[in-house]
Amino acid sequence: MKQKELIGKMTLEEKAALLSGKGEWQTWNFDHLGIPSIYCSDGPHGLRKQAGAGDHLGLNPSLPATCFPTAATVANSWDPSLGEEIGEALGEEAQAQDVHVILGPGLNIKRSPLCGRNFEYFSEDPYLAGKMAAGYIRGIQSKGKCACPKHFAVNSQELRRMAMNAVLDERTLREIYLTGFEIAVKEGRAKALMTSYNQVNGIYANENTHLLKDILRDEWRYDGIVITDWGGSNDHIKGVAAGSDLEMPTPGMDSARQIVKAVREGKLSEEAVDSCVDRLLEAIQTLVKGKEEGEKPKDFDERAHHELAKKAAAESAVLLKNQEDILPLKPGTHVALIGDFAFDPRYQGAGSSMVNSTRLDKISDMIGEYDLMVTGMTKGYVRTGEPDTVLEKEAVDLARAADVVLYCFGLDELSESEGVDRAHMRIPQNQITLLESITRVNPNAVAILCAGSAIEMPWINSVKALLHGYLCGQAGAGALLDIIVGKVNPSGRLSETYPLRYEDTPAFKYFPSEQRNSEYREALYVGYRYYDTAKVRVQFPFGFGLSYTEFEYSDLQVDEMGADFILTNTGKMDGAETAQLYIGKKDAKVFRPEKELKGFQKVFLKAGESRKVRIPFDDKTFRYWNRKTGHWEVEGGIYTIMIGASCLDIRLNAEVEMKGTTELYPYHTNRMPSYYSGLISNVEDTEFQELLDMSIPDGKWGGELTMNDAICQMYYAKSPVARFIYRKLTQMKKKSENAGKPDLNILFIYNMPFRAIAKMTGGMVSMEMIEGIMAMVNGHLFRGLGHTITGFFRNQRQNRKYVKKLTEKKGV
Ligand code: BGC
Repeated sequence: MKQKELIGKMTLEEKAALLSGKGEWQTWNFDHLGIPSIYCSDGPHGLRKQAGAGDHLGLNPSLPATCFPTAATVANSWDPSLGEEIGEALGEEAQAQDVHVILGPGLNIKRSPLCGRNFEYFSEDPYLAGKMAAGYIRGIQSKGKCACPKHFAVNSQELRRMAMNAVLDERTLREIYLTGFEIAVKEGRAKALMTSYNQVNGIYANENTHLLKDILRDEWRYDGIVITDWGGSNDHIKGVAAGSDLEMPTPGMDSARQIVKAVREGKLSEEAVDSCVDRLLEAIQTLVKGKEEGEKPKDFDERAHHELAKKAAAESAVLLKNQEDILPLKPGTHVALIGDFAFDPRYQGAGSSMVNSTRLDKISDMIGEYDLMVTGMTKGYVRTGEPDTVLEKEAVDLARAADVVLYCFGLDELSESEGVDRAHMRIPQNQITLLESITRVNPNAVAILCAGSAIEMPWINSVKALLHGYLCGQAGAGALLDIIVGKVNPSGRLSETYPLRYEDTPAFKYFPSEQRNSEYREALYVGYRYYDTAKVRVQFPFGFGLSYTEFEYSDLQVDEMGADFILTNTGKMDGAETAQLYIGKKDAKVFRPEKELKGFQKVFLKAGESRKVRIPFDDKTFRYWNRKTGHWEVEGGIYTIMIGASCLDIRLNAEVEMKGTTELYPYHTNRMPSYYSGLISNVEDTEFQELLDMSIPDGKWGGELTMNDAICQMYYAKSPVARFIYRKLTQMKKKSENAGKPDLNILFIYNMPFRAIAKMTGGMVSMEMIEGIMAMVNGHLFRGLGHTITGFFRNQRQNRKYVKKLTEKKGV
């Protein structure tokens, strides 16, 4: 233990109090012991420090900060060093705002395009997600701050996010859902990690010893702190026993009391408490030391960060179509600018990641600075979907008179938000109807798309060019215009597949989950791993993106350490290419996807320039998880090394032979036809069971509601009052949806389990009171009411007593 001496001076009450939050964002301070409080703040693409009332949903305003493009956007740059630069800037803003822990980056795997938070996550591929996250973490931590990658682990849906159980096999867990975190921890050297709300194979992530002890601490040698997601602690005693150090945000003193009691009754060892305290104290002291050494600047360079946000948006935008080389536009082109998004950009998503931007660039304001003849501008459609024939006519008239139409469109605010999964992959129909009316009078439509996750594009043939800006941050407008006029050569490549239809997606039948369990039957076949293996046609493949120049690949040479090849810019413009290395194995004994990304490099080349590129192999290139040996193994034999410009555009191939590490193979080939063929859209119970190596847990609801059930499950509560509350909440949710803006408070309450009420009310409600509330919900009104009322008074009394003990003669 590093902090043995200090821990020796602390009472059990003090130690227990330190392990949960003092406020929405801070930890407890003990001035008499020289232990200050540290401050956490979202987030992943810009700080959200709330100076006034704090909440974790982005409801109350926060201090102005730079809004960088979201993770889904920057992942398209395939440039971890850009992530590092953004991380540095976030770290500087944290220094200026006195924030110690930045709650990000988010690197959950995009299992389905419909997950409401995909815009906050990097990719469907763990290798790319991990490398990008490691970049951010290095940058943030170089400024003396802690990054807190999240949400560990298997957090792929918003529906009942705090009350669902991800059921998956160990190999899928490790190869798909944990590898990114492994890279973030080992290469990014993250000092903090946030656990996810959900259960993983029946155990809450925050108290899952397999995740937190066996894998995170023992295998990966992680020595940083583990923090719960806000309100995500189920049983604090189990969390501490598993090595989860800090419960956030504000359970009052209830959680601390439980820890003290458990230690006194011998149900939790004091050593477990001390280990958590030790790690926390170590983190607190390092974080606060940075400040004492005068690292804190007075202010951050707001202009420079805005410029960096613009550079990030420019490097991350993906040119998806460019028929007849309509882009870049020639100087003096007569353009009509159409679309509400040009005037009121959608540049970030809603929820805890929402930044109060220092400024906001708009295409409508900036287009005049470019060498184009703007013949007119109009909003064209109503963002929330209602038809408007007057606006539409105005837009069509404008389009008719121009050489080229710049059409700005995309997903509206309601479509992408924390707390709710999308219901479909379409963009609002009125935007498409207008696009089609425009292209009937003017075929030269250049579409500029804003959306943080994959969408269907049945309208793609109507446009000549499609530039996808994703959610491009506060400076995105200038970046997109720079690409449109050719000041910048686009170099973004998709970090996720664009399927033709939602029905084609691998988890279509399994996502999100009808009942408590979400069964990951598609296993390893996430994103391109599925489409490529099962030969499903897609709209745009993983890794795809166009440039204004062309690249040629040649002279591949492969040895046991990596691959070398020559990359040449054969076009007329300087530009960057992202060369991707995939591996595959024909006749594999252990089933595997057709190809998997194992390396990449973004290379900038002047027109006509050639360069030798080396992509090294690493410990992840050939490994697979073998459930029989309980280790990472390499299957012996010949592997195909593929170098390409996307997963479907392989330019060079070579073979390399690897020695196997075991002759013990984990599967019975004939019992798993779906997994051996990759045709996983309809996996039967027997086969899933074979993969899981255990029986499929029963996830059916029934009987009485428990404190771990989500509040929205009150629709089948015994108590008519509970059912009434459910109906009221549903009405309020519907009302906010009709108004076009998500109501995060309602969404959060709707999906949270009853126990979270005790974890987030700053000491007003205790777990004992939740037991009373549950009795009422289940129809035992009087018993429940009595329990709740006595619980309330007992909790208040005990809270006061505990705080008094902490504060008397001490400076809390
Ligand atoms: C989100 C986290 C976020 C936290 C604090 C939670 O609801 O899941 O990503 O960091 O709130 O705002």
